[in-house]
Amino acid sequence: MKKPSRLSHVRNIGVAAHVDAGKTTLTERILFYTGASYKIGEVHDGAAHMDYMAEEQQHGITITAAVTKAPWREHLLQLIDTPGHVDFSIEVERAMRVLDGCVLVLDGVRGVEPQTETVWRQRSHFKLPALFFVNKMDRPGADFRRSLDAIRERLQAEPVPITVPFPEEACVVHLIDRTRIRFHGDQGDQVVIDPCPPELWERCADLRESLALTAAEVDEALADIVLAGEEPDAPSLRAAIRKGTLAGALFPCLGGSALRNLGVQPVLDAVVDFLPAPLDRPPSLARTPDGSEEAVVMGAEGSLAALAFKVQLWDGRRHVFARIYRGALKPGDSLAFLGGDGKVRSEHLARIFDVDAGKKTKLDEALAGQIVLLAGLRFASTGDTLCAPGHLLSLERIVTHAPVLGLAIEPAAGTEEDKLIEVLGKVQQEDPTLLVEEDPETGQRLLRGMGELHLQIVIERLAREFGVSVRTGRPAVAMRETICQAASADALFAPPPTPDPRQPDLMARAVVTVRPLARGEGEQIEVRPRVLPEGSALSPGQVLAIEQAIGGALMSGPRSGSQLQDLRVEVVEVELFGQGSPPDALAAATAKALRKAIDAAQPALMQPIMRLEVVVPEFSLGAVLGDLQARRALIQDTSAQGDLAVIAAEAALERLLGYTTDLRSLTQGRGQFSMTLDRFDLC
Ligand code: G4P
Repeated sequence: MKKPSRLSHVRNIGVAAHVDAGKTTLTERILFYTGASYKIGEVHDGAAHMDYMAEEQQHGITITAAVTKAPWREHLLQLIDTPGHVDFSIEVERAMRVLDGCVLVLDGVRGVEPQTETVWRQRSHFKLPALFFVNKMDRPGADFRRSLDAIRERLQAEPVPITVPFPEEACVVHLIDRTRIRFHGDQGDQVVIDPCPPELWERCADLRESLALTAAEVDEALADIVLAGEEPDAPSLRAAIRKGTLAGALFPCLGGSALRNLGVQPVLDAVVDFLPAPLDRPPSLARTPDGSEEAVVMGAEGSLAALAFKVQLWDGRRHVFARIYRGALKPGDSLAFLGGDGKVRSEHLARIFDVDAGKKTKLDEALAGQIVLLAGLRFASTGDTLCAPGHLLSLERIVTHAPVLGLAIEPAAGTEEDKLIEVLGKVQQEDPTLLVEEDPETGQRLLRGMGELHLQIVIERLAREFGVSVRTGRPAVAMRETICQAASADALFAPPPTPDPRQPDLMARAVVTVRPLARGEGEQIEVRPRVLPEGSALSPGQVLAIEQAIGGALMSGPRSGSQLQDLRVEVVEVELFGQGSPPDALAAATAKALRKAIDAAQPALMQPIMRLEVVVPEFSLGAVLGDLQARRALIQDTSAQGDLAVIAAEAALERLLGYTTDLRSLTQGRGQFSMTLDRFDLC
């Protein structure tokens, strides 16, 4: 059951959503109905099967992506439950990278939320076919049609309703089959299907009509039938919707309530019917070491290509999650890969495991299409492409984001210093969004991460998993620097002459101009200088040295040592001496001129500005708005959603520290917020 015999019968699926939309509750049902787990673990009891980490159970949220397997209708679903909190978006990114399709869960009351949009952007980047489950339809104020509109308006996607939920009738109506589906038994596991009664059908017949028209748009044969006023049959509709979904033109939508066990089994059917098998996905493009491209077609034929997408410590040992794209893996295999630093490394694979949330089972072999856990790899980390030695390839790497928040930490007991360093190294391997740095001024050790919750969870893990307690300072926000005006500077690099006449002349001169760019434009570097003496030219080695010197100088600005951005640097003139200045001398002259130019260009500090959405009960709106204003937030919009108020605002991250706790007390624990980095801007 666990081993996919045919790739056409495998679905690698992620479940993603805004926090609290019900992903974990849905996933628990999926595992139960598919027989992958013997009981439903409830989130509110801290018993969810997929949220197996102690911190996940304590906070009631999903932190690490967990892989699990669930059989359905002779298919094998490989399921990855992804976290909704923005602090852990690397987990979503990693999951999306290796999945073939995803189920996006919406809250039927709130519709499309900010994190839904973030997840949607990640989905769009990987062109992942997706379907929607509009959850919580049992709640007052839930509206299936409004959710369809929100998908159209906020995500610019074409939803195709497949099942329409009628929680008051304890059923969903299947628009393709024209059936009513009821879910009997304590756990909703006894599915009763009968023809849809006419009075119920009347309430959703218009949706069936629009379904047929939308499907007709992607399938000519179906269009002929629909335009002739005839009724298309169910298999033709399913085939057309599958075609449109795989092409990314359509997004099937199903409604229900995971908590009330309403409408979940049709989601599983829809995964099998509409989402792609590994072979349905276009080949992945990989780069060879000589820079050419190779299309990696999913299948057992050809040399190995597997993507390491997550490093996890399991019982204290290093393990690597990998998705196999081509070829097969056996314990004892030798592997090679090109690391992020460009070096080729060889590894020996000791063991392969099949993973089901917190459990792992040994495998003798793993094939293309599978997601497996590998033991014995000492170096391979997130983003590395594992290959057969002699046939190196690099699949697209996983993008990681720079951390925005730092926390000074030190061991609670002075003697644990060495242990802390060792343990931080381990945790960092697992989590590429976590950085450990030393503050050059204070010598303090800084833990940098994506947000307060992220850092808090790491600190808790250090204590629970590794027995290292730490003391922390106040969180410090990561800064950037920029310049406010254009400036130009000329610098001569002239070390004292050596008495040895055989030594080359080490002098060089450079003229550099800098000019500010708009926010978010990053850095532009141009090295096309006039070269003196007239008639000389720079070698590629000299140009490279100049570019590297600029890159290096931009890493640390004059105000706080933070990275410089949103500026253009142009090397307008260089002067060579003697036999032609060596690259090192040119690099030194350029760096000196650049630093002088930046000093003259009004350098300024920039801080992270966050976009936030705050959802609070009506009664607390005034207090929450007052508090936001006190934090100098710019309120952009407030709107009502049932008995909730939604505030859109932007504010400096510095002023949002501790906001989770304050919001909780202002709203009797019912307020929620999510934030994403919008830009770095002047303080
Ligand atoms: P997530 O993984 O997307 O973050 O969501 P999760 O499943 O943890 O669900 C969040 C909360 O919403 C849970 O309540 C869960 O029981 C509830 N929930 C999930 N699906 C439904 C549904 O279909 N209908 C209703 N009414 N509720 C649902 P909780 O842990 O008690 O949190 P809270 O209620 O205190 O927020």
